[in-house]
Parts: sequence; structure tokens; C-alpha cells
Amino acid sequence: MAKVNDNYLKLPGSYLFSTIGKKVSAFQGANPDKQIIRLGIGDVTQPLAPAIIEAMHSAVDEMGQADTFRGYAPDLGYDFLRNAIVENDYKARGCDIAADEIFVSDGAKCDSSNIQEIFSLDNKIAVCDPVYPVYVDSNVMAGRTGTYDAKSETWSDVIYMPCLADNNFAPELPKETPDLIYLCFPNNPTGSTITKAQLQEWVDYANKVGSVIIYDAAYEAYISESDVPHTIYECEGAKTCAIELKSFSKNAGFTGVRLGYTVIPKELKCNGTALNPLWARRHGTKYNGVPYIVQRAGEAVYSGAGKEQLAKQVAYYMNNAKTIKEGLASAGYTVSGGVNAPYIWLKTPDNMTSWEFFDFLLEKANVVGTPGSGFGPSGEGYFRLTAFGTYENTLAAIERIKAL
Ligand code: MLT
Repeated sequence: MAKVNDNYLKLPGSYLFSTIGKKVSAFQGANPDKQIIRLGIGDVTQPLAPAIIEAMHSAVDEMGQADTFRGYAPDLGYDFLRNAIVENDYKARGCDIAADEIFVSDGAKCDSSNIQEIFSLDNKIAVCDPVYPVYVDSNVMAGRTGTYDAKSETWSDVIYMPCLADNNFAPELPKETPDLIYLCFPNNPTGSTITKAQLQEWVDYANKVGSVIIYDAAYEAYISESDVPHTIYECEGAKTCAIELKSFSKNAGFTGVRLGYTVIPKELKCNGTALNPLWARRHGTKYNGVPYIVQRAGEAVYSGAGKEQLAKQVAYYMNNAKTIKEGLASAGYTVSGGVNAPYIWLKTPDNMTSWEFFDFLLEKANVVGTPGSGFGPSGEGYFRLTAFGTYENTLAAIERIKAL
């Protein structure tokens, strides 16, 4: 008789953004006349940049001609894109990463949930708390997290690293030694970040204890301060302890296009086994490559025109972040983030729980945000707003919240 993977049965509730989506649809259904402003999921609203559209159009034309048509893409990515990534995201920052250490994929969400497959089930993971839920949920599905305690909302075999106002929302080195350490900077959800010197401490620690850092740099394009690292490979020794995940969703508006990549340096080994060939084996077996048209679009991100147009797009969203942060601060809210990241993290007013504030904001201001507790127990009493809305909606949302 077939049996299910009962690790799935241990997952409490549905995926955070599915739960929010359902709540918002129910509210809209009951209140069809309300103009809801969505600042919940970090989904972009600006159209694809002209340089990207142009590249996609010409790739589509190539697909329509017998002599330029392409079938399956190379499973690890086309050389033109891998080389552009190496030149622009690594060599330009003084990091020695080679094209065969880049694995092109359909996005960082999938990579961040799949990467755990190449590690043994008895590895112990450490995560920031609050954290992007995919890291923990994917390890639950794999059966790596032990049992769930509904009261504390924690898993018995996960090391939680609280990120609170007291530590500037930056994790401290854990007391218990983890095998895998998930870090995301600039951070989702808190919008906080750490300096290169602080990240170097993590790299030194991982090399010392033999842990692997899974470093999610999806929001790197939003960094505005000079001492914040754009890639973990700016730190000395990172190639022997770190995997990096990158996305085109936030820097180039590809949430609906789908493109990302993972970097696994050849020097990175676990117990003498190199991880790069393991991930290549996994990718080659389970994945058929990102479409040619999308990889050409990704290449255009690195063209002169692409870079110029995308810098403007990032500035547009960061102006929203400033509008949210300053608007809420002037209304008496305690706010952080929004300087090196497109997320604003706020303390809920009047000791409301995160979900109480979610309902309050939805009902009274028709504004959707994300409850901090959805990202982990230390997110309770906090709330996340995204800067990825349109400027007009962002402004209107803040005016509505200020008027409450
Ligand atoms: C978020 O809102 O946390 C992100 O947009 C979700 C994602 O990137 O998958």
C-alpha cells in the first residue's frame, strides 16, 4: 500500500503567503467595494525594464527560426549567462568565482528549499528567528527538524537564533554547534543587515566548526551602505564554507519570469566530499534548465542599459521604503529596516499580536501586510510592510494607517 511522506503531516497550517492570500480574498469577497492595498508578499509592481523586454523579444524571434531555434537548455545554464554573472556579480567585486561554480535555476525560493537535499538527514540546521519560512518548512518536509511544539512554535531539532531589537535584528553565534546555517542579508523579513566584518565572523566560525552557511543574498541590489557585503565571497575563507543563493526577482522584477542561481565553490567540501558535483548531479537529474528566452533576459540585466534602468527601479522601490519608514515613524510607530532592504519591520501598536494587527489593518485601513509571527516566534508583536508596491499605493496606504 502506498504511504505518504508523513513529514508533510507535521507542517502546521498552510504556507504563510497562501494563508494571507486566502484571508485577503475572503475579505475582498465580503467587501467588494473596498480598494485593498497589498503590501504583504514581496512581489514587484514595476514593469520589466526596456532592455530586458528587447532581449526577450529577440530571443523569441530566434526561437521562431529553424537555424536559431533552441531545445533543452544546458542543465546548469547557458555559458553567456553564467559568464555575465561571474563578471558582474563576482569579478567586479574582487571575488574569484568561476562559471562552473554557478548553477542557473528558476529562482532562489526553489534553490533555498532544494539545497538541503544534498545534506544528510542528521544535519542540524540553525535559522534566524524570524526567518523566511521556506528554509524551515523544506527541512520539515525532509524530516530533519524533529517534533513541533505548538506552544512555543518551534521544532525540537532546529537551532533558533533570535533576531530582536536588542541585537539590531542580527543573529548571534549559536551556543550549540549547527551543521547547516541559513543566513539571509539584507534580511527578509526584518530588513536588517550586517557589516562585512560581522559576516567575516560567521565565515570564520563556520570554517572552524565545519558548518556550511547557506547564504541567501536575494536582496543584495538594495544595499546602500558601503560596509555591507554584496556577496559572502567578499569574506576571506567563504569558498570553503558557503553556498550563495541569488535571485533576479527583486533586482530585476523577475517574480513572474523566474530566474535565479546558486553558487557552490569547488573548494567547498563536507568530510572530504565536494558539494559542487553533488549539486550538479541533482540539478542535472531533476531539472531541465531555465528557458533560453529567460536566460537572455537575465543576460540583459547586466548590459549597460539594463544596469541603468534597473538602478532606477531599485531607487523607485527604495523611495517607497523611505516613505513607509518616515510616515510610520512620524505617526509614532517603532520602525526599522528599509535602508539596505525593501522591507520595513514595525512593532505592532498597543501590544497587539501580529495577526491581530493584520486583521485590524485589513479591516480598518484595507491595507495588507505580513504578520511577523508568520516568520517565527520572535516575530510575534512585529509586522512587515514591503516597499514593492507602486508609489501611489504606498503613499495612500501610509496615509490610511496614519489616519487610524
Ligand atoms: C516574501 O514576501 O517574503 C517574498 O517575496 C517571498 C519570496 O520571495 O518567495
